[in-house]
Amino acid sequence: RATNGLGQGWQQKQWEAECQAANGTNSGLDAPLTRADVLNDWNPNIPEHTASFSSVFNMLPARAPSLAMPFESGGTSPFVPHITNSILPTQIRLAQIAEMIHVASLLHDDVIDTSPLRRGVPSGPASFGNKLTVLGGDFLLGRASAALSRLGESEVVELVASIIANLVEGEVMQVREVHAPETLVSGGNWATNAGQASMTEKGRMSQERWNIYLKKTYLKTASLIAKTVRASVVLGGTREGELWKEVAYAYGRNIGIAFQLIDDMLDFAVSDASFGKPSGGADLRLGLATAPTLYAWEEFEEMGPLIERRFEGEGDVEMARQIVASSKGVARTRELAELYARKAREVLDHLPESEAKEALQEMTEIVVKRKH
Ligand code: FPP
Ligand code: MG
Ligand code: MG
Repeated sequence: RATNGLGQGWQQKQWEAECQAANGTNSGLDAPLTRADVLNDWNPNIPEHTASFSSVFNMLPARAPSLAMPFESGGTSPFVPHITNSILPTQIRLAQIAEMIHVASLLHDDVIDTSPLRRGVPSGPASFGNKLTVLGGDFLLGRASAALSRLGESEVVELVASIIANLVEGEVMQVREVHAPETLVSGGNWATNAGQASMTEKGRMSQERWNIYLKKTYLKTASLIAKTVRASVVLGGTREGELWKEVAYAYGRNIGIAFQLIDDMLDFAVSDASFGKPSGGADLRLGLATAPTLYAWEEFEEMGPLIERRFEGEGDVEMARQIVASSKGVARTRELAELYARKAREVLDHLPESEAKEALQEMTEIVVKRKH
């Protein structure tokens, strides 16, 4: 495979060399990988590819920006337009695979959370019902898996397959948190930056809730970003190998946790209209205590029983919202997200200067500044 450092400009001949190399080997399927396979294997913008689920897939480009990107070189990324030409087509394909998995998980998530709104439009279940939504998500996963195998890189296949398992593990953890909390233990110390030092009974309980919360956050959100970024480095084929893979993973993991912390903070800070999905304590209504609530509990004892009964009592959600509003919960959640974003930025020090590195640095700011 041709090598492509993150900062190196992408050249047509590089891609051709890559195709040639791939064609000389077995890509994992009977037919060897060709440029046409990677570019056109499955494309939600091609009507014949989506006929059986056309109503579900018609909504995809608007909800999954990279799926609306032209596959050919010269297309601009909605996130980092100025570095498009340094991205290999296989890496664009990987981004699209990640986006398909992400959208599949959101389709399923909106069924689980009975959520009526996603990205400012009626959700999958609200538009098509639960059955088609679940099947649409499954179909996307199937297509993503086929596209993944066609990249012909077993390390990438393994990484991305494990993302799917992680997403499910995170979601199962969250369901157990609400329906069978007594069976749930974090089994690790995830809250080194967030938990309390004091080991009073409340401190211990708080620490364990933070551990569960941050582990779940890694599984349901950060794993997708961490392992996809790592897989992108594998596809780039760097000489720096393991170091850059570790940098990519650590960057994605930290920025992913920052992203979810901000998401959980915005649930208390913005309206449905600007968030594009239910907010104003939507997590509380699902029985979930996220970072702002856990911080508020450190200041206000009365949050404890509400968390314990998962905000199911009359007026609990409203009371919890008021407690969060009077506490430093929202501000402290933002600070924690900034800490993770800083960790993501710092790890980039291992990379040489490049436009790509600048874009990655920029992302660490975008992720904490976002308002929706
Ligand atoms: C959104 O969280 C949901 C996720 C990040 C992952 C959901 C994962 C599953 C439903 C498991 C099934 C996975 C696949 C791959 C089909 P949220 O509900 O906290 O966020 P929201 O406010 O955006 O709904
Ligand atoms: Mg949800
Ligand atoms: Mg959910």
